[in-house]
Amino acid sequence: MDKKIIYSGIQPTGLVTLGNYIGALSNWLKLQNDENYQCIYSIADLHSLTVRQVPSEFRNRAISFFAQYLACGLDPQKNIMYFQSHVHEHAELTWILNCFTYVGEASRMTQFKDKSQKHPDNINMGLMDYPVLMAADILLYNTSLVPIGVDQKQHLEIARDLAMRFNNTYSPTFNVPEPLISGVGAKIKSLQNPIAKMSKSDPNENATISILDSTDDIMRKFKRAVTDSDNEIRYGEDKPGISNLITIYASCKGIAIDAAVKELQGLSYAALKEMVGCSVVDMLAPVKARYDELIKDKEGLFKIAKEGQEQASSIARKTLRKVYKKVGLVQL
Ligand code: TYM
Repeated sequence: MDKKIIYSGIQPTGLVTLGNYIGALSNWLKLQNDENYQCIYSIADLHSLTVRQVPSEFRNRAISFFAQYLACGLDPQKNIMYFQSHVHEHAELTWILNCFTYVGEASRMTQFKDKSQKHPDNINMGLMDYPVLMAADILLYNTSLVPIGVDQKQHLEIARDLAMRFNNTYSPTFNVPEPLISGVGAKIKSLQNPIAKMSKSDPNENATISILDSTDDIMRKFKRAVTDSDNEIRYGEDKPGISNLITIYASCKGIAIDAAVKELQGLSYAALKEMVGCSVVDMLAPVKARYDELIKDKEGLFKIAKEGQEQASSIARKTLRKVYKKVGLVQL
């Protein structure tokens, strides 16, 4: 039986955050041991170019993100891991899919609107085209499932629409992918503004935990986390700060929200923050230790990325060829 394809990616902008870890990476780790799936993960570096990057910093950051994939425990023997820009078919399929995407639907995307507001001086075509490139990533590999956090759900919808539109215009070509969004932790919130998501590009460094933060930094950031003025540990919409801390604790411990509330109830807010901070430190300490080793060996990282590129290319090449044929491009 052919394995089902799982595809996902992270763009190397800012930091790999606790939100990325809980919302995406921790689920990828579980999936790699399931024999029914072949998992493919890219460093979505082309996506990052929608915002201006300093080339040398960007290059180092992309390599660091790749090392962080490995440090989290993603096994290159079980997963295909590569840099998106190393497989040129992504950009090529994007062009074809662009010709099936309406300007109206692309301009309605929430992330496009948010980013246009944040960078009014650089509302470039790439920003608008971002979901189409993401659709190309997914559709190139005949993906069945896409493990993501809630914020990427709308982009997955457009990938599904494009797959169906193409299939209906020609004949079945692409799998129509489904999102895989975890129940707990699909949207980890900022520690400073618990109504907004924890974002890797947040300029307030107390709002975000990097998976490589030191123990001291993690504990300090939790100590300063915004909560509320009563003293009740309860999960609910009216208590976003406390609910976020409970969610983080439940995710780190691998338990349900109810079980976490039971464990934490009765603590003072200071003690709650301490407990949650410790649970994060325990979860991330081995990641940081592995990262410090991995990042010293660039050659080793490049070898893994090269193998990933070859494996990914051999799948992508076949899909693109099929697509080019269906749309009527000349093939020699
Ligand atoms: P990115 O890089 O913003 O985020 C990577 C993954 O982390 C999830 N995530 C979160 N989950 C929970 N709480 C949070 N606060 C949080 N912040 C981020 C995101 O939902 C995502 O799953 N466009 C994508 C990258 C991408 C991609 C793809 C994903 C490129 N090609 C193909 C899936 C399939 C992005 O910018 O994610």
